[in-house]
Amino acid sequence: MENKLKTLFEKKFGGKGTLYASAGRINLIGEHTDYNGGFVFPGAIDKVIVADIRPNGTDRVRLYSADMDDSAEFGLTEADAPKAQWARYIFGVCREIIKRGGRVEGFDAVFAGNIPLGAGLSSSAALESCFAFALNDLFNNNSIDKFELARIGQSTEHNYCGVNCGIMDQFASVMGKKGNLMRLDCRSMEFEYFPFAPEHHTLVLVDSHVKHELVDSPYNKRRESCERVARRLGIDTLRDADMAMLDAVRGDISDEDYRRARFVIGEKERVLAVCDALNAGDYDTVGRMMYETHQGLSRDYEVSCEELDFLNDVARECGVTGSRIMGGGFGGCTINLVPNALVDSFIATAIERFESRYGHAPAIYPVIISDGARRL
Ligand code: GLA
Repeated sequence: MENKLKTLFEKKFGGKGTLYASAGRINLIGEHTDYNGGFVFPGAIDKVIVADIRPNGTDRVRLYSADMDDSAEFGLTEADAPKAQWARYIFGVCREIIKRGGRVEGFDAVFAGNIPLGAGLSSSAALESCFAFALNDLFNNNSIDKFELARIGQSTEHNYCGVNCGIMDQFASVMGKKGNLMRLDCRSMEFEYFPFAPEHHTLVLVDSHVKHELVDSPYNKRRESCERVARRLGIDTLRDADMAMLDAVRGDISDEDYRRARFVIGEKERVLAVCDALNAGDYDTVGRMMYETHQGLSRDYEVSCEELDFLNDVARECGVTGSRIMGGGFGGCTINLVPNALVDSFIATAIERFESRYGHAPAIYPVIISDGARRL
């Protein structure tokens, strides 16, 4: 990909840029907890966005997306927002750096990636963090700290893309470290790297190809439910709630809001249980928690779909240790913790059964936990 981008840069703009990359992410457990001040447990993966970038001495940004074979050009004031969604991610990053007092001037860039779009692997966060990291390096001498780079990506989603997301994806994409998952406390923003190299298990993603689209999706509605319950309880976020508190207000909130909050409260406990289980090498508990999360996401949080519930059932029938829908939901992948001895038979069975039911094969992605945003 790097050589292809260098050639493209030369062709489009002449000369050479500097190469930067950032990564998509998985999340072992801790879903829809980030915007509730809870815990998440993600890691960056070996699927990346790479950009070749060079300041151009003007106040214009000129971009070429190799994957879409599309160009965009814009200025750097609020009024210059481009129409194309893909370009708005980069425009938003520029604007959010400028709003924080950082410097961004005109630049030329070509970029490409191999993160499947709409699969719940956070390709948009990878795009944001690749450019946030690069522009901080090129124009600000790296004076913006890495957490703030993640927040710049998150604010881009909020202010330019219509998704009121939490911090998990951008955090994972910026901070990811090879061989490590990260447990992030989204209230204090303290985090810890967790070496993750299971001896007897492999992580396998199964992509249903049901397109997950968070823009204009019920994602924002889920967040509103949680915020409504927190307000009713008189607390800032559901991080500070427990089941007794929730049950005490059950009569005052809708059944739907009750179930949303029940999931979030349970998920907070599950992340901590998974971390303890990993420390003890107890993969059975890790897996059981993943199945519980799936149930909760499907029944209480209602962000699964028929195809993903089907894949979850297949995993269970194949003896997979843990399986669940991953990311925001409404399509995308399941993440599966598979005993090494079962990997081949699970993949073959999942493909065969899914294809005979839905008429197309799911995609399978093995996962390698890798580095996040960086200069190449
Ligand atoms: C999406 C959002 C994240 C997080 C997950 C669900 O990926 O971007 O902030 O809320 O959904 O865990």
